[in-house]
Amino acid sequence: MDLRSLWFRGLAAVCYRRMILVECYLDNPPPDPGEEANEIQSELQDSEWREYLRFDREVNADELQRRRQAGHVCLIIRRDGVLVCAHWSVLGPGSAYIAYLDTTIPLGTAERYVYGALTAPSLRAQGLATRSWQRSLRWAWDADFRHSVSAVLPESRSSLAVGARVGYRQTALIGYCKLGPWRREFRRALPRA
Ligand SMILES: CC(C)(COP(=O)(O)OP(=O)(O)OC[C@H]1O[C@@H](n2cnc3c(N)ncnc32)[C@H](O)[C@@H]1OP(=O)(O)O)[C@@H](O)C(=O)NCCC(=O)NCCS
Repeated sequence: MDLRSLWFRGLAAVCYRRMILVECYLDNPPPDPGEEANEIQSELQDSEWREYLRFDREVNADELQRRRQAGHVCLIIRRDGVLVCAHWSVLGPGSAYIAYLDTTIPLGTAERYVYGALTAPSLRAQGLATRSWQRSLRWAWDADFRHSVSAVLPESRSSLAVGARVGYRQTALIGYCKLGPWRREFRRALPRA
């Protein structure tokens, strides 16, 4: 971890947190990423819960239950039958809770919030998340979602790289400053790259 990341991690623990909002609007069907012979993308089924919990150590059974009851959709990729990549979507209309910022963002009809992207550590930087997010946009199009939004830590260079590659644009820096009980949220539009 570089010095800058350490600095922001320290601030995050005390008084200041921020994330980059990335958004993708679909006016046309996104390109079909094609299939890798040994990879299959699907929606996580109830029968796959246990396997998911072994895959994603940050999530416990209660949290998984909460996500499923709230109707969040988890798209997974299996490579040679093994769960290797996943991400979650909150489907609008309604709102999505961003835990890191302890805030919610509104979601209109046809909007979804994407979070919780994870690739098995030993298989990172092989294009799995990129393919997963491309297929996810296709999934969104087929389900009539035309706007996808996600919040990414500025230090998460690989997430930003994946988003940019599949068509997400960085639109705003959102976050908060706080001092004791005082807390102020901010949202600053980012210039179009
Ligand atoms: C973020 C994550 C899902 C990406 O998964 P992945 O399968 O490795 O992603 P891909 O292989 O499709 O693409 C990763 C890209 O980021 C690039 N990358 C990785 N680290 C990078 C860095 N420090 N700076 C710039 N680019 C970086 C890779 O080179 C690759 O780009 P390339 O294909 O042009 O070489 C994975 O790293 C992960 O699970 N991280 C831990 C959980 C996490 O942080 N989730 C995101 C929450 S917002």
